[in-house]
Amino acid sequence: MIIDPASLASKEAYALLVSVVVPRPIAFVTSLDASNVVNAAPYSFFNAIASSPPLIILSAARKKGALKHTAENILSRREFVINIVNESLVDSMNFASADFPPEISKMDQLGITLLPSIRIAVPRIAEAPINIECTLHKHIPLDDEAVDLIIGEIRQYHVRDELMSGGVIDQKLLRPIARMGGNYYATIDNLFEMERYKSAKNNPGAGTDSEAGR
Ligand SMILES: Cc1cc2nc3c(=O)[nH]c(=O)nc-3n(C[C@H](O)[C@H](O)[C@H](O)COP(=O)(O)O)c2cc1C
Repeated sequence: MIIDPASLASKEAYALLVSVVVPRPIAFVTSLDASNVVNAAPYSFFNAIASSPPLIILSAARKKGALKHTAENILSRREFVINIVNESLVDSMNFASADFPPEISKMDQLGITLLPSIRIAVPRIAEAPINIECTLHKHIPLDDEAVDLIIGEIRQYHVRDELMSGGVIDQKLLRPIARMGGNYYATIDNLFEMERYKSAKNNPGAGTDSEAGR
């Protein structure tokens, strides 16, 4: 089947895209509004885009033209925390994506514990295995598509001691939750290792490694 995304209604285009680009990591983002009220919401259009300086990207779709609270808060305060989601945080993360009317305090309902950050005023989520304090590096509004791209610079990591192994995160212990298409999520239960090729000379059939050196 060949599919022209331009032929799809926006809901169909979204459903197809998020079922094709999988698995996606989930950023459970905490942010502060102008009155210091804490907000938390999940974003799976999230990834790392550079390592020096360390940069991440989030994409927040506007709702009927209005910025999502997370985007609004990040633009006004220029800082936020990405809390990595593991199994213990799944329910709160999912609930945090709901629309909360102003009379209901989202943070009171989520059952999460907030801890102070070190470099920024935005608190982090104690239950998360990793918290990443970020400052706003760049905001790129995609006007036609009503999307706010937020590029954040990582200023501080908080990693549970038992997860650190030789300067990196122990991949068997982290157990992050990944976002799949539809209502699917995944745990990472089957890890395998594979060495990278240094040069195509050692294996002419393998082609070149465009990421070599990174
Ligand atoms: C797992 C998950 C991932 C999500 N990823 C995104 C995303 O990348 N971009 C987005 O605009 N909304 C995303 N959403 C929807 C937002 O979480 C939802 O619109 C939420 O109400 C936004 O809250 P806020 O306005 O407090 O930021 C996601 C929801 C879930 C459950």
